[in-house]
Amino acid sequence: MKKIVILISGVGSNMQALLEANLPCTIAAVISNRAEAEGLETARRHGIATAVVSHKDFADRESFDAALAGAIDVYRPDVVALAGFMRILTTGFVNRYRGKLVNIHPSLLPAYAGMHTHARALHDGVKIHGCTVHFVTADLDHGPIIIQAAIPVLPDDTEHTLAARLLDQEHRVYPQAIRWLCQDQIEVDHHGHVNFRSPRRVGNTLISPGLE
Ligand code: GAR
Repeated sequence: MKKIVILISGVGSNMQALLEANLPCTIAAVISNRAEAEGLETARRHGIATAVVSHKDFADRESFDAALAGAIDVYRPDVVALAGFMRILTTGFVNRYRGKLVNIHPSLLPAYAGMHTHARALHDGVKIHGCTVHFVTADLDHGPIIIQAAIPVLPDDTEHTLAARLLDQEHRVYPQAIRWLCQDQIEVDHHGHVNFRSPRRVGNTLISPGLE
């Protein structure tokens, strides 16, 4: 069975979704860069090993990433899942876990890479927003896309309501992506596109606002 290590920085609701999805893999550990991350307690309650590698203890990104890699490699994971892990990783770190490192990002990439995705979507008046699970590459938030979920932006949405509605979808697609990875369903072709080894269901069309 494949092994996963999950990296978090905060609440860890995506981590919790992974812990509770009955995935066909072993969740070996949850590691946080913040000792006060709420998700650490959730992981412990689920009987998962936890560790903290605080970025504040290191002078630069390279030394932090080296220590983080040391903590991860104890578990020899097949997959390293970033779940609200809010640190930019060095190219060296990303390359070390090439093909194993995945992230969930709260936008329909390649739109709204980076921070404040919900506020930027609201500011632009887009009618559809979403989230993306993707492989992590050195190009921030631009790695091969595994799965995306789209939601309508409602007229009275605030950053908070939009984020909360999207989070519900994040909790659906991230376990699905990890499940495919654990089942060896995914390959990345020479275009950097994700293909599936066997056919997948087609998703639904979302039109927002709806047609009348
Ligand atoms: C999630 O919305 C995730 O997509 C986002 O942080 C939140 C973490 O929530 N990640 C990023 O913005 C990464 N750039 P959680 O701790 O409850 O899973």
